[in-house]
Amino acid sequence: MNTDDIHPIRGDCSTPISSTLLDQPLVFIHENHLRQRHICAVIDEIAQHHVQKKDIRAILTFLTNELPLHLQDEEEDIFPLLMRRCEPEDEIGRAISKLTVDHAHAGADIPKIVEILEKLETEDIEPNETESSALTEFTAHSRRHLILENAVILPIARARLTDADLSNLSIRMCQRRSVKPPQEKSHEEHD
Ligand SMILES: [Fe+2]
Ligand SMILES: [Fe+2]
Repeated sequence: MNTDDIHPIRGDCSTPISSTLLDQPLVFIHENHLRQRHICAVIDEIAQHHVQKKDIRAILTFLTNELPLHLQDEEEDIFPLLMRRCEPEDEIGRAISKLTVDHAHAGADIPKIVEILEKLETEDIEPNETESSALTEFTAHSRRHLILENAVILPIARARLTDADLSNLSIRMCQRRSVKPPQEKSHEEHD
């Protein structure tokens, strides 16, 4: 489905982010963080036995489609760009090391969380105590990660990345999602 038909501009966090925002890659990343916070809140609801099947399906789509792409955007593009552009006084290396370790943990945790949610969805049951704990631990880690990225990574990226960096970042994020880069679209419009 083309989500642009539904959300031509910023969404409300309950649906995938419009690809039209990919021409502003740092805005897209920030929107993704807002969406992650929303997803965490819904996972917490599920952990507290307020299960809605449609919520579970939406979370599974986020965890298996959107989040892996977001982690790649950061690890393969934004973090290396910041390492190149930042000044020593930014002390970005330590933050990026911590965030990279977080990503490795998330990569290991996501399949377990997906397994729990798929079971709840298929069997139409409430989570047991172990499952609830796993869900709330995952959201707690995710929130801590988001706080660090919003407080450190995004402000430094806004300050340090050049227009050319942002343009390349936009192209890479579009390619990762098989979306035509906005630059190509505007060339076509002017041809
Ligand atoms: Fe992030
Ligand atoms: Fe991250």
